Amino acid sequence: MAVEIYGGAMSGTSLDGVDVVLAGFEGADGGLSDANVKVLAHVYTPYPVALREEILGICHGQPLTLPHLGVVDLAIARKYVEAIRAALSAAGLTPSEVKAVGVHGQTVYHQPLGPDRFTMQIGDPNTIAVGTGVPVVADFRRRDMALGGQGAPLAPAFHDHWFRHASRTRVVLNGGGIANITALRPGQDTYGFDTGPANVLMDGWCTAKTGRPYDDKGQWARSGKVLDRLLATMLQEPYLKLPHPKSTGRELFHMQWLQACTTGSACQHAADADVMRTLLEFTVRTVSDAVAPVDATGGELFVCGGAAMNDFFMQCLADALPQWAVQSTAARGIAPDQVEAIAFASFARRTVLGLPGNLPSVTGASRPCVLGALYAV
Ligand SMILES: Nc1ncnc2c1ncn2[C@@H]1O[C@H](COP(=O)(O)OP(=O)(O)O)[C@@H](O)[C@H]1O
Ligand SMILES: [Mg+2]
Repeated sequence: MAVEIYGGAMSGTSLDGVDVVLAGFEGADGGLSDANVKVLAHVYTPYPVALREEILGICHGQPLTLPHLGVVDLAIARKYVEAIRAALSAAGLTPSEVKAVGVHGQTVYHQPLGPDRFTMQIGDPNTIAVGTGVPVVADFRRRDMALGGQGAPLAPAFHDHWFRHASRTRVVLNGGGIANITALRPGQDTYGFDTGPANVLMDGWCTAKTGRPYDDKGQWARSGKVLDRLLATMLQEPYLKLPHPKSTGRELFHMQWLQACTTGSACQHAADADVMRTLLEFTVRTVSDAVAPVDATGGELFVCGGAAMNDFFMQCLADALPQWAVQSTAARGIAPDQVEAIAFASFARRTVLGLPGNLPSVTGASRPCVLGALYAV
């Protein structure tokens, strides 16, 4: 059967950079079983510190002029061009050999509730298509939102194809800046939602206190102890009690939120390492509280995203979920840092083929729909 090559390019709430995967897809029906997707190249291009700071400013509502927004939109697009071109050369492919690349873009604001619901991803797709010579599919979230959905999380639709098992309960945890889970129970509808932060608060604290962008393998957190009062205060966050569908981002979980929690629990003077340990525990608790009810008898939990590289987090998560076999998605054949980019390659393919990409049972949209739009070279 003919193999068609699609790309996926992802930059998430961590604001760490752009992951690009080029993959061969086989099959006429949009089928995505592990037999018919093969990764040909994966390239990760970090954001320069200055660009990361610009994006952070926009995410946190810093006053912004339109020329400024235009320049950041272009700078992100150029990073995507660089990453996609690097992936083409790593795979030894010419642009014309790739049908399309699914470009997530950079979320700068996500407001899924209230009278004015919107989500905004930037990184001009026209610049990316022209700059790489590969057609681009982009703007994946907004049709789902126009249909009453949250526009997020989208990855569960891919998890559903790749990880579902006929007789075993499985959950996929995508631990990027924000954490989302996908619940896959035999014979039942898939559901999924953002559980809260994965790394966004830990990264923020680590950067503020050590100058390092993240806590490598969780070693710093390992050296601290959990501050029970701070953890209890964080766990009172109303978002955690909302029913799904739900999604969140940096608009809610940011350093001021953490500061309010440390003040509210009288932990302003706690040791930095103890706050770090507590933040890691907050992610463990919010994730395990979401996973445990999926199946009272337990199951398999596959972890992807940067959280899978955090050894101490993985250990604490396994301790919190004794009935669950906690492992990296590598155990099912995809490296944890490639899952989301492959998902966007598969979404691009579905759009090109005119197939729906969203899962209304996850996002809350009124119906399945074709996601995004195609930008020609
Ligand atoms: N070696 C590591 N140890 C601990 N955390 C890591 C490691 N590598 C990556 N991470 C975490 O993963 C994050 C990036 O994860 P990613 O899945 O790319 O998130 P996003 O989709 O939000 O961009 C980093 O910001 C960091 O917090
Ligand atoms: Mg990332």
